[in-house]
Amino acid sequence: RAEPLAAPSLSPPIVIAHRGASGLRPEHTLASYELAIAQGADFIEPDLVLTKDDVFVARHENNIADTSDVADHPEFADRRTTKTIDGEQVTGWFTEDFTLAELKTLRAKERLPMLRPANTDYDGRFQIPTLEEIIALAKRASAETGRTIGIYPETKHPSYFASIGQPMERRLVAALDAAGWNGADAPVFIQSFEVDNLRRLHALTKVRLIQLLDDTGGPADGAAPSYADMISPAGLKQVAGYAWGIGPNKDMIAVGSKPATTLVRDAHAAGLRVHPWTFRAENYFLPRSQWKGLNPRGHGDVEAAIRRQLALGIDGFFTDFPLIGVEMRNAA
Ligand code: G3P
Ligand code: CA
Repeated sequence: RAEPLAAPSLSPPIVIAHRGASGLRPEHTLASYELAIAQGADFIEPDLVLTKDDVFVARHENNIADTSDVADHPEFADRRTTKTIDGEQVTGWFTEDFTLAELKTLRAKERLPMLRPANTDYDGRFQIPTLEEIIALAKRASAETGRTIGIYPETKHPSYFASIGQPMERRLVAALDAAGWNGADAPVFIQSFEVDNLRRLHALTKVRLIQLLDDTGGPADGAAPSYADMISPAGLKQVAGYAWGIGPNKDMIAVGSKPATTLVRDAHAAGLRVHPWTFRAENYFLPRSQWKGLNPRGHGDVEAAIRRQLALGIDGFFTDFPLIGVEMRNAA
């Protein structure tokens, strides 16, 4: 087994490359993660789903209709199907219906071409990466750069995968264990919106866990408290029983110049670190006439938002533009 790397940097605030440098390359490709590392990100974020043969791959959804060229493969036409996932009817092609070898014949595609037309230049060039490949990249880059680059995986739809006989927790811990990254000192955070998934992981590993939070509704595992309940002082105390920190939608902390909430302070009082998501300028690549008030660099409001939340005491943040994130973090 490989030697564990040093514990991830917790100060200054960490910059987490959201799906890699996904503002500049198709998300969840090794190219996107490599660019993020070159731009100085501390952590790279893969969203994780499982293949039919139980391999973790990085995709935002298990439905790969919009993130791969699967629709252009006639040999997979009969795999198109409709499923109910987290209460919603979803039609497409699903990772759990493909072996890794089959998925490797596909190529990644920009998921949001209207927002990021420049990223479509890379469509058809990159494979879907495995967690193992992402860990290997982070280790190789750490060795080459002399700084620790960690991974920040999110389990996607864990209760759904459990319902089809593919629970994620032991598989994920085993994958980290195989990499020598299953411990409190590993440069790894595991994040999930689902409480039961995190509670199960808490029983299996000492890797730091992050409870994701959104500004509407509640987690897909219906038994869990609503997000509104989770951010009360009592709710945060409960979260601190299994998680090291929270990953709230950034709007739960502050929006524009409106007064900030007390979430950062309340979370810190409960002993939780705070890593909000996601700082981005989604219309950066549109024609200038459509920049909707952004400054000529296209990132003025993003920079202001990061600066403001750093001043509020966040401990790290997710961004699609790690170069900007690193600049803002270093200037704070
Ligand atoms: O993991 C933080 C953030 O990425 C959660 O939302 O949909 O971008 O995975 P999503
Ligand atoms: Ca995510």
